Amino acid sequence: MLDRAGERGYWRRMIVLGIETSCDETAAALVRDDRAILADEIASQEAEHRPFGGVVPEIAARAHIKHLDRLVASALARAGIALDRVDAMAASGGPGLIGGLMVGVTTAKAMALATGKPFVAVNHLEGHALTARLTDGIDFPYLLLLVSGGHCQLLSVEGVGRYRRLGATVDDAAGEAFDKAARLLGLGYPGGPAIERAAKGGDAARFALPRPMSGRPGCDFSFSGLKNALRLVVGRLGAIGERDRADLAASFQEAVAASLAERTARGMAIYADLHPGSRALVVAGGVAANAALRAALTRAARREGFALVVPPPALCTDNGAMIAWAGLERFRLGLVDGLDFAPRPRWPLDPAASPLAGAGVKA
Ligand code: KG4
Ligand code: ZN
Repeated sequence: MLDRAGERGYWRRMIVLGIETSCDETAAALVRDDRAILADEIASQEAEHRPFGGVVPEIAARAHIKHLDRLVASALARAGIALDRVDAMAASGGPGLIGGLMVGVTTAKAMALATGKPFVAVNHLEGHALTARLTDGIDFPYLLLLVSGGHCQLLSVEGVGRYRRLGATVDDAAGEAFDKAARLLGLGYPGGPAIERAAKGGDAARFALPRPMSGRPGCDFSFSGLKNALRLVVGRLGAIGERDRADLAASFQEAVAASLAERTARGMAIYADLHPGSRALVVAGGVAANAALRAALTRAARREGFALVVPPPALCTDNGAMIAWAGLERFRLGLVDGLDFAPRPRWPLDPAASPLAGAGVKA
């Protein structure tokens, strides 16, 4: 007979708990090694931060403390298992806001200590990077476009903990650009979803905004020039009405999507030289939830002969399942952490941070 976790008594699968508290979502999830998401609980703090127009670290840390225990309990209840059935306790260990990271890491360590199970510190970016292996079961290697609030990078993902950076933003991250543009347009926080909503009825062709870095060699990104161009147009218009706002949002979204797609096309060519047998492009991070970006990347991937994998929007923005899955991938390779692990507000995915220097790549 199958129990609620879907397993027979004599066949025990690996289950990992994942906790996400690095920014403004509190989340707890349980995933199993056959890629089943048994529970994925999340409490968004949007309403608590909205009056301030951005994430307030102290408010975030307090909200994580308030919500986390309840979310862990409801994840276990939804999966129909007790805590001691969980094989490892994973938490985002960084990068992120130190107060929130401490809440999640301390909670996971306490549960590890109480149950005698291992603790796994997950790099939040690795959570995003490995999500496509949870949702689509894809193999290494693959090219990853990681676009979140704090990051915009193209990485060759070669294994768990093995990343090679091909390109990165030289100024703002993609999500940061959306957030700043939203503020400029009076659309509030969080900016990406607000721009996408406002852009729905807008005319993307009305304002000719620049496509940063277009045609430049390599596959770095830049968004600050685009943001300034938007600021100039807004200034020129003076008071902006609903129509202007929708057209500006649509034009800006189109410019970001086109720029990301053009730079990623170059990244695909560089990646294809490194891995002649692989033609897989994965997009991850909060900005990957954007439908215009998905459409632009679908076209670019088709042109370059790449298969595109984009996880569903709820698994692109921050969530617990991605931390549980990355924790599971590390745990089954024996990569566990000691209870003396200290959260890391800064924690690059590619420790050498070598932007391809010396890799013999010309593009
Ligand atoms: O990955 P994520 O949830 O948190 C970080 O690790 O940063 O990404 C958050 C970022 C924010 O900048 C947010 O504005 C952006 O992702 N974002 C979007 C969309 N949903 C979230 N940007 C564009 N379109 C969206 N639909
Ligand atoms: Zn994230």
